[in-house]
Amino acid sequence: MTTTTRPVAALDAERVTLAYDQRTVFQDLSLSVMEGQITTLVGANGSGKSTLLKAFGRLLSPRSGRIHLQGKALRTIPTRQVARQLAVLPQKPLTPPATTVRELAARGRHPHQTWFRPLTSQDTAAIDAALDATGLTGLAGRDVATLSGGQIQRAWIALVLAQQTPIALLDEPTTFLDLAHQLEILHLVRRLNRDHRTTVLMVLHDLWLAGRFSDRLIALAGGQVVADGSPWEVLKPGVLRQAFGLEAQVVSEPVTGSPLVVPAAETVLPHDLAGS
Ligand SMILES: Nc1ncnc2c1ncn2[C@@H]1O[C@H](COP(=O)(O)OP(=O)(O)OP(=O)(O)O)[C@@H](O)[C@H]1O
Ligand SMILES: [Mg+2]
Repeated sequence: MTTTTRPVAALDAERVTLAYDQRTVFQDLSLSVMEGQITTLVGANGSGKSTLLKAFGRLLSPRSGRIHLQGKALRTIPTRQVARQLAVLPQKPLTPPATTVRELAARGRHPHQTWFRPLTSQDTAAIDAALDATGLTGLAGRDVATLSGGQIQRAWIALVLAQQTPIALLDEPTTFLDLAHQLEILHLVRRLNRDHRTTVLMVLHDLWLAGRFSDRLIALAGGQVVADGSPWEVLKPGVLRQAFGLEAQVVSEPVTGSPLVVPAAETVLPHDLAGS
């Protein structure tokens, strides 16, 4: 007898309405993030990528509808338990004052620690591994405030890695990074996914990197999912026009064969996508 494993939703939004005061960003949106996959949200500035990620990370409560984390209603799960299941890298993390790189990474162990107990050897090993993976071992004692933009970003990624959660939500994890470090971080994300089956939901602006490192892309525009599927299914001229107002061709990138978006010589941004 053959058994087929059905894909399981790590996170599941069911008819959610997400809004800030008077501004509704999504109404009745349903979307699942599948376990063991790397899913990337793409879309123009203001299309709601961070809003959706915040809702999945319980940083924003839906006005209506439900979100489930591994089948349980997210709003009913104790905070500590949520933090053991999912780690969130916000788009604009606020670094606490007078914090060293190592101390910031160590915050990732908080959900695993008991009150006032010193770090266990397992905590220390997780922090060391996170600093090593992000290339920050040599900067461990430095105050985060004294680092460059890219180094700060990597310190926050170290916190997420030290948390060792089965799900990671990463809002633009490669901002501020030079191309080599962007690739390094995304290879790291893929290793986490391959070796530990970590479910990743991230936001990326670079469509080449999104296509190269994701199992699934979700394109957002106008409060809707306008395309959802493999990188080749989503990165199509019609979707790029709808989501970004971008006239572009999509060619196969010669090294990995992933889709490469080549914009037309001149692109005029429609008024409504320009954020007016
Ligand atoms: N705290 C807030 N209060 C009010 N409106 C907000 C707030 N945060 C976001 N918005 C609005 O919600 C909409 C979606 O914003 P969101 O940050 O989710 O976009 P995004 O796709 O992540 O954009 P970007 O690519 O610029 O990060 C935008 O119109 C934005 O102005
Ligand atoms: Mg955003």
